[in-house]
Amino acid sequence: PPISLIGAPTDIGAGHRGAAMGPEALRVAGLADALRSRGLDVIDRGNLGGPANPWQPPEQGYRHLSEVVAWNRAVAQAVGAELDGGRLPILLGGDHCLAIGSIGAVARHCRERGKTLRVLWLDAHADFNTSTITPSGNVHGMPVACLCGYGPRELTELAGAAPMLATDAIRQIGIRSVDPGEKRLVREAGLDIYDMRYIDEIGMMRAMAEALDGIDANTHLHVSFDVDFLDPTIAPGVGTTIPGGPNYREAQLCMEMIADTGRIGSLDIVELNPALDVRNQTALLAVDLVESLFGKSTLMRD
Ligand code: ARG
Ligand code: MN
Ligand code: MN
Ligand code: MN
Repeated sequence: PPISLIGAPTDIGAGHRGAAMGPEALRVAGLADALRSRGLDVIDRGNLGGPANPWQPPEQGYRHLSEVVAWNRAVAQAVGAELDGGRLPILLGGDHCLAIGSIGAVARHCRERGKTLRVLWLDAHADFNTSTITPSGNVHGMPVACLCGYGPRELTELAGAAPMLATDAIRQIGIRSVDPGEKRLVREAGLDIYDMRYIDEIGMMRAMAEALDGIDANTHLHVSFDVDFLDPTIAPGVGTTIPGGPNYREAQLCMEMIADTGRIGSLDIVELNPALDVRNQTALLAVDLVESLFGKSTLMRD
């Protein structure tokens, strides 16, 4: 389908300022033309608007909750409109709290159309905190929990009744940083996590084959790509670097295997922080990987 780029220039849920510059850095890195060179029809819708970041300490376990809600409403509206128009939305974040609105809208769309949703969450973090267990109050550490019904009603019911997303629709890949209380909740909820230890043991190829198992012609595949998924030696431009992530080849294989399913229906590119990047290299790498996600391949046998 034709693609729509939607910028959400905010760092409202993050612990560092700078992710608000992510959409422009991805544009400067040539995202639209890279996708066009894949033969895809691409429209850049420009940026959404929303409240400024007041940069306040947490209140009752959340930083900036009302602003987070406002940004996510705007994202859900924009993503839903693109899906209704038969287009494939790519959300340019912005921090990862925006996945509540993005995936909320995708889940609602799938319910309406009788589609099976599968979410691939590529991240160093599980993002499954709640206000009582969060070490930071930053809502970018909570979107998966909110989508699964754990969180404040303004977020858990942002795009329909809670839970907006069933835990068994999610596969998390690349995880290597989970807070103690979060770990307990992840186990209780039964999230399907392909952590780095597992990827080290069985390899990216088998891990991805398992994560993609069961996808069929009726599946809508949503990829939520937190750029801190990648090893920080290749992707320094993120606020929460965690060592020991996928290297370049592993990340490429991950993207190529997703592309091979032919089912990708929506994408988030989040947590890119140009204020921490080096000559836009992390944005350029993200664009390179997104090309692979949309079918660019070095395979000689295709
Ligand atoms: N677990 C930490 C927290 O909740 C870090 C979350 C990082 N999330 C992200 N989307 N980068 O504060
Ligand atoms: Mn719809
Ligand atoms: Mn992360
Ligand atoms: Mn994340």
